[in-house]
Amino acid sequence: MSLIRSNKFRLWTRALILAALLVLAFGGRHTASGGPYGSRYFPNVPLTTHDGEQVYFYEDLIKDKVVAINFIYTSCPDSCPAETAKLRQVYQILGDRVGRDVFMYSISIDPEHDTPAVLKKFATKFRIGPGWVFLTGKEEDITLLRRKLGLYMEEIQDGSGDHNLSLIVGNERTGKWITRSPFDDPTSLATLIGHDLFGGITPRENVRSYSEVPDVPKFSRGEYLYRSRCTSCHTIGAGDSLGPDLLGVTEQREHAWLMRWLKEPDKMLAEGDPIARDQFARYNELAMPNLRLDDADAAALIAYMAAQSRGVRQAD
Ligand code: HEC
Repeated sequence: MSLIRSNKFRLWTRALILAALLVLAFGGRHTASGGPYGSRYFPNVPLTTHDGEQVYFYEDLIKDKVVAINFIYTSCPDSCPAETAKLRQVYQILGDRVGRDVFMYSISIDPEHDTPAVLKKFATKFRIGPGWVFLTGKEEDITLLRRKLGLYMEEIQDGSGDHNLSLIVGNERTGKWITRSPFDDPTSLATLIGHDLFGGITPRENVRSYSEVPDVPKFSRGEYLYRSRCTSCHTIGAGDSLGPDLLGVTEQREHAWLMRWLKEPDKMLAEGDPIARDQFARYNELAMPNLRLDDADAAALIAYMAAQSRGVRQAD
């Protein structure tokens, strides 16, 4: 009897020791793995996704992950839609890896207005599918996140609605964090997120000497502007994208209308311009952003769209 009891006792002690060791090794969600900054640096504040799910910033969103994070607000007339459309190109290049091994988060800095439902509508407008998560939360928590991520700028918190237009990408596990402009070339951003942050290195033998590197193509001003600001939403002759196909638009619309449209589409829509209203309804209520172009930019873009339309038609 006593023999059995002492055997049992020993079994129990062993089980307890084993359990204690397991807790030491894997327990305490905050100490297990995670990168060098870890939960001591990154706040584990609660946020709500555009699907209404509650998540915790450090534990659920970034810990051990490769992530891209930016801050937006949905009522912003110009920079945020342009930024979102640009990032959508990165999202498309990364494809189904988003939500699987890389994670994209857009956090609202106007949480009072940007409820989960408003964010969901915003995502739908941009035809953003699964993997890319829009988030809202408490204003003070979001401000803290912006500070911790280095995307908070004292001087522009003046209620003008301007905010720091940066994207931070990082690998939480390795502790490598980089800020980039969301307006950078989408392919290079996708490479940074999907390859470089995974420790990808270019093998030495593939490194080419400068003399072999092809010249940087010299774009005209119009082409440069078009490629960097417009291709996220438009094509010329390849069909509708987020916005209408622009093939032949310079013949279809009056020059003065186009000039003004390129400079202040937001004002024209607000004034109830009939073409603007009709298009707004047709394109998912996604407003063309005011890209702060001047007369010279607008004229260069019109010349480019006209030449490009001619080129496309000749090729057909
Ligand atoms: C965020 C997406 C987005 C970006 C970026 C964007 N547009 Fe648009 N654009 C639209 C949408 C959407 C419309 C349709 C009107 C509306 O809904 O406001 C439109 C309408 C237009 C029209 C009017 C088409 C017509 O048939 O009358 C022109 C011209 C145009 N865009 C040119 C440009 C140019 C040039 C650029 C770059 C400098 C640009 N857009 C950048 C989304 C965008």
